[in-house]
This record gives sequence, structure tokens and C-alpha cells, in this order.
Amino acid sequence: MSESTVAPEFEGRYLRDVFGHFPTSVVAVTTIDDGDVPVGMVVGSFTSVSLEPPLVSFLVDKGSSTLPKILAAGRFCANALAADQESVCRQMSKKGVDRFAGVGWERSVTGNPVLDGVVAWVDCVIDTTVELGDHHLVVGAVRELTVASPKSPLLFFRGAFGEHSPTT
Ligand SMILES: Cc1cc2nc3c(=O)[nH]c(=O)nc-3n(C[C@H](O)[C@H](O)[C@H](O)COP(=O)(O)O)c2cc1C
Repeated sequence: MSESTVAPEFEGRYLRDVFGHFPTSVVAVTTIDDGDVPVGMVVGSFTSVSLEPPLVSFLVDKGSSTLPKILAAGRFCANALAADQESVCRQMSKKGVDRFAGVGWERSVTGNPVLDGVVAWVDCVIDTTVELGDHHLVVGAVRELTVASPKSPLLFFRGAFGEHSPTT
């Protein structure tokens, strides 16, 4: 079997389009900055990594202004947004706004913002970060986690938000 050593080239728009056909969860990653101000961003790249030890991860664009704050804090909470929290998602992913305006939250044991009304949350300290292409993989060691409500999750697919509908 012959293998080409030349990496194929793809147009960014084509990559985004095909990647956008893989549905994702919508997770608000939150922490507290060195001025004791809550910070957060939305990711579709959250995933559980390991059960033993309990690890989770997400990917952040290297150009993100939120990433240095998360890394400096050394900890984060991953909040799974509910289907009725699309407006929270839009606010938490917008630049130049107070991302926590009107959003209720309380501190986890490690001090991270746990958002009101989410489906579930996982509170972590940062275990490892890995540079991968134009993103950083952030791996968190789980400190506390809970299912917060029986609500349906917010999902992202083909550039649009939606809700999970069970087939049975
Ligand atoms: C549904 C959705 C999923 C997203 N997923 C990611 C992600 O996995 N990684 C990422 O870096 N940004 C992701 N973003 C973009 C960020 O939420 C946000 O726009 C970005 O962090 C803003 O840049 P800042 O960190 O400089 O404030 C996503 C946005 C949306 C709406």
C-alpha cells in the first residue's frame, strides 16, 4: 500500500461545512479571573476522556482571549447548556459584552461559576494542555460533577441550534 506524504489541502469553508455536520453539545466553560470576575466561553468540543482517572477535555482556538484566563486560573467548570438556554449561549459566545449579564450562577467548591438552569456540570482543575494545530486541547481532572436538571440539552448541527428528540 502506498502512502502519500503530502498532506491534502482543504478550503477552510469546506472543512467548516463538513465538521458542522457532526452534531455537538453546547457547553459553557467558566472560570474566575485574577480580578475575581467570572469569565466564560462556549465550546462545542467538550468531551469526556477517561473514567479512571476521571478526565474531560475541550479545544480552544489559539487566538481566544478567554483561554489565557482559563489557563491562569488553572481550573474550569463545564456547564452543559439546556435547550431553553440558547440566549445564554449566544451571549457567552459574543465578544465585547458582559457574558454573565442576567445569568445566575454560584461558585463550585473549587470556586468556578456553576450556571443556573444547566443540564449537568463538571468542575475541574487543569491536568494537561496540548497544542494541536491552531487549537489548544485542555484536559481537566474532575473534582466534582452533577446532573443538575432533567431538561433537554442544547445541540448544534449544520450551523443551527436544536433540541434532542429521542427516537423511542
Ligand atoms: C455552538 C458554538 C460552539 C463553539 N465551539 C468552540 C470551541 O469548541 N472552541 C473554541 O475555541 N471556540 C468555540 N466557539 C466560539 C467561542 O464560543 C467564542 O466565540 C470565542 O471564544 C470568542 O473568543 P474569545 O475567547 O476571544 O472571547 C463556539 C461557539 C459556538 C456558538
